[in-house]
Amino acid sequence: MGERIAEEKLNEIREAADIVDIISDYVQLNKQGRNYFGLCPFHGENTPSFSVAPDKQIYHCFGCGAGGNVFSFLMDKEGLTFIEAAVKLAARTNIELPAETLTENKAKPASRDSQQMIEAHELLRKFYHHLLVNTKDGQHALEYLIKRGFTIESIEKFQIGYSLNSWDFVYKFLIKRGYSPELVERSGLIIKRDDGTYFDRFRERIMFPLLDSHGNTIAFSGRALGDDEPKYLNSPETAIFNKSKILYNFHLARPSLRKLQQAVLFEGFADVIAADKSGVINSIATMGTSLTEEHIALLRRNVQSVTICFDSDNAGIEAAYRAAKMLAEAGLNLRVALMPDGYDPDDYIKKYGEEKFKNDVIGASATLMTFKFLYYRRGKNLQNEGDRLLYIEEVLREISRLEKAVEKDHYLRQLASEFSLSLDALKQQQDEMSAAEGKKHQKGQSALKKKAPAARPTGQLRPAYHTAERCLIAHMLKNSELAYRVQDKLQGNTFNIDEHQAIITYLIGFYEEGHAPDLSGFLNYLNDNKLKRIVAEIEMMSINEEISDQELIDYIKQVLNYQKMLKIKEKEAEERDAERQKDFARAAAIATEIIQMRKSL
Ligand code: UTP
Ligand code: MN
Repeated sequence: MGERIAEEKLNEIREAADIVDIISDYVQLNKQGRNYFGLCPFHGENTPSFSVAPDKQIYHCFGCGAGGNVFSFLMDKEGLTFIEAAVKLAARTNIELPAETLTENKAKPASRDSQQMIEAHELLRKFYHHLLVNTKDGQHALEYLIKRGFTIESIEKFQIGYSLNSWDFVYKFLIKRGYSPELVERSGLIIKRDDGTYFDRFRERIMFPLLDSHGNTIAFSGRALGDDEPKYLNSPETAIFNKSKILYNFHLARPSLRKLQQAVLFEGFADVIAADKSGVINSIATMGTSLTEEHIALLRRNVQSVTICFDSDNAGIEAAYRAAKMLAEAGLNLRVALMPDGYDPDDYIKKYGEEKFKNDVIGASATLMTFKFLYYRRGKNLQNEGDRLLYIEEVLREISRLEKAVEKDHYLRQLASEFSLSLDALKQQQDEMSAAEGKKHQKGQSALKKKAPAARPTGQLRPAYHTAERCLIAHMLKNSELAYRVQDKLQGNTFNIDEHQAIITYLIGFYEEGHAPDLSGFLNYLNDNKLKRIVAEIEMMSINEEISDQELIDYIKQVLNYQKMLKIKEKEAEERDAERQKDFARAAAIATEIIQMRKSL
């Protein structure tokens, strides 16, 4: 980020733009003590929990957790990219930017070639759309769409079009406008025959333009009007189109994704368009591929939660299970929207209506755990003992992976009551699984990969190590020398909360690149929304200016003790295990070990 605007310029903008001034355009702020307070613009509320700290030039909402600096405020509020926000702030503070920056921040073509490919796609998008809505040639296609329930508003919004039943219409159309056949072929719109002549890829299809995150048309997906195969014909991968990076409707949905901090993920375009029409405007879909790491990274930069709404058939449920796992592992909050067997979202809306879809499907979506319960139940006959035991074991394994004790307890009780089992027995079996899981994790843990509980919403009771980590970060943000000292004292151990560890890893990187402590500068350096929020939240804690050596040692101890406690718990499980196997010698040896470990706390 920020490669396009020189760092000195960014600093200049940052110093000139006053956060109170900028945010006052959107929120009525009242001064109380050092800070300003107002109603949060990111979530609906009646009592102000949104605060702005002019001395630190950051904002934070105690209600929804939104937070960051003046750049992230504009990015979130207006749905801008970092550069776009910088350009806006520069204009506001009368700082001159190079002319290229101003034009480039609209479209950022990598090269002249890509630029031309985009132009060709843009031309065709308009022409296909015109054919569909205004011409006799496209009338049957329009009728097909209307019959399927597409509205004129949707057709306009998604710029849906129609490709003529011709072998060379696109070829002639683009060549006449000066594009070389080689370029048009490389952009996937025409295909070369053996004899060196060309023909159009898309013929007699409904055309869905696919846009990149800047709103440029970079590819098409064409749906057959009848039962032709394939049902959807997609542009091939080209210099401008990479399926694994693109999400359908991402460009249009982005402002609402950021505002709601939530995305609804579908399998098909038709589903996205139908959901959008129902008012679920934060809808997106992959391009008929499974979710990639790149998609997930894109989502993580924009939202905190994802609701998966896939087809309710076998393939859809399996795909939802895989997607849910990947998204949850990436730290996103997850829900799964469920429909009656056999429906896809588009069919459902047609049959039951938009309100019911919004309330009973999206609104009533299941937690990930409830979805997993249903998932493991499929294909099993729970009257049969073997199936039932297998089911209980599968579900217990999932429960043992939960981070929060209250959640574990809740699902264990649910399971116990459903199968009339003793809660104690379930708990014990689950504890054993947890211990086994814990061991597995510890082996493969690295600084950033280790799974730890995500940051909790503000206002909840937190364990001591959590507060200790935050206090340490607060001081490390102010003092680079102290940051290195903490790093040393951890002796290769990491913070317990993943996000905290990520923040200090970035912070050390920031200092190593020669930056001095600078909160707002560090927020720009962090490329991740969630981390920015946490940093802003940490900054809003009141801490003493100075930290004594004793305090430092105490905090570090709390961080490390938690890890030791986990190891002790594991040992205790091993000890019980040994006792059960009547291996009393081993049990005694482990008990001694535990005593030693406890002493070191
Ligand atoms: P579906 O077959 O579920 O399509 O494919 P759909 O959304 O229900 O479409 P309609 O309602 O029949 O028109 C889901 C997605 O898989 C991709 C497309 O991205 C589609 O939106 N797909 C499907 C293809 O790429 N090619 C195909 O031939 C079929
Ligand atoms: Mn469908």
